Amino acid sequence: MKNFFIPVNEPSIGKEEKAYLMRCLSTKQISSSGPFVQEFEKKFAKKIHRKYAVSVSNGTAAIQLAFEALNLKKGDEVILPAFTIISCILPIIRLGAIPILVDCDPKTWNMDVEKTINSITDRTKAILIVHIYGMCVDMEKIIAICKKKKIKIVEDSAESIGLNYKNKPCGSFGDISTFSFFANKHITTGEGGMIVTNNKNIFEKCSMLRNIYFNNKRRFKHFGLGWNYRLTNLQCSIGLAQLQKLEKFIKLKRKIGNYYYKNLSHLKSVYNPIKKLEYCDNIYWVYGLVFKKRSKYKLEKIRKSLLKKGIETRNFFWPLNKQPILKKMGYFKNQKFPTSEYLARNGFYIPTGLALKKKDQDYVIKSICELIN
Ligand SMILES: Cc1ncc(COP(=O)(O)O)c(C=O)c1O
Repeated sequence: MKNFFIPVNEPSIGKEEKAYLMRCLSTKQISSSGPFVQEFEKKFAKKIHRKYAVSVSNGTAAIQLAFEALNLKKGDEVILPAFTIISCILPIIRLGAIPILVDCDPKTWNMDVEKTINSITDRTKAILIVHIYGMCVDMEKIIAICKKKKIKIVEDSAESIGLNYKNKPCGSFGDISTFSFFANKHITTGEGGMIVTNNKNIFEKCSMLRNIYFNNKRRFKHFGLGWNYRLTNLQCSIGLAQLQKLEKFIKLKRKIGNYYYKNLSHLKSVYNPIKKLEYCDNIYWVYGLVFKKRSKYKLEKIRKSLLKKGIETRNFFWPLNKQPILKKMGYFKNQKFPTSEYLARNGFYIPTGLALKKKDQDYVIKSICELIN
């Protein structure tokens, strides 16, 4: 084992974050009231071209509130990708709605557009579009059909902060869009999330839901069942400093991703991510490698060998139809999503943190090329 460690992800924190944080400490505004909360929300909404933003405690909470704000009810159907994090399905299940999974596209790893459209029924209340690993869903057709059929779109942009779909920011397309600011995202608040929308009613409902339905007239009389999902002034101060560097961070992520592509795309046994498509340019939230069908390598063996060299990697998402808890609850019996399942069993991602040093990236490349060809 080397005496150093290259984490799969490490954020970039600079003097700006420290200065803003110190301001919170010196003013003692460390909870969820304080000027950074409003400023971060306002600037974030502007960045995503939306009217309103509600900060919340994480991306999972953001999706929960999004579906509650849409009044998702028992028996409503929601279409979502099989290849995503479990956060996406939790509110659908908890609200008694019916999750309808679609497989992903083998090239982009994003939800298959035709399969999504073919899954629409009279009971479809919403489609949860989830942008995966730094590329986005080709949304145009889905948006058009949703408009015609009055189906709501929730756009989970957790992994695509700073990514554009046809020159407009991801997160600007959903009736409600959600974000995560976990430390591996393009901007971070440690833990954190955001909901954005152009709809005033949705905005007000999310604000109430986030704040246990306190109301202005009589604070401790509650007219709804809410949550405490507030983000603190401390977290928002970090978020604001990070947001001011978003363009720089995206440039850096692309530099890291393109450098991997240049040095790893010759490998015959793995697929690399797509660099760009006509509708988006990869921002490499992660840099995934997927073993080809007839490759002689064993994924876990390679990951173990890399770890021995001090290189952390991570498996791809485990598809929702294969989640033990969901299977136990009786969901998705005999349903197969071959591409999602293939990616889960054969894909892993390598260090791409914003703090990754060039010499460490060279070491990762060299180590991978020594192990596989
Ligand atoms: C697509 C997607 N949605 C939601 C989340 C959940 O965000 P959080 O970890 O902030 O709850 C994640 C987390 O990585 C994610 O990748």
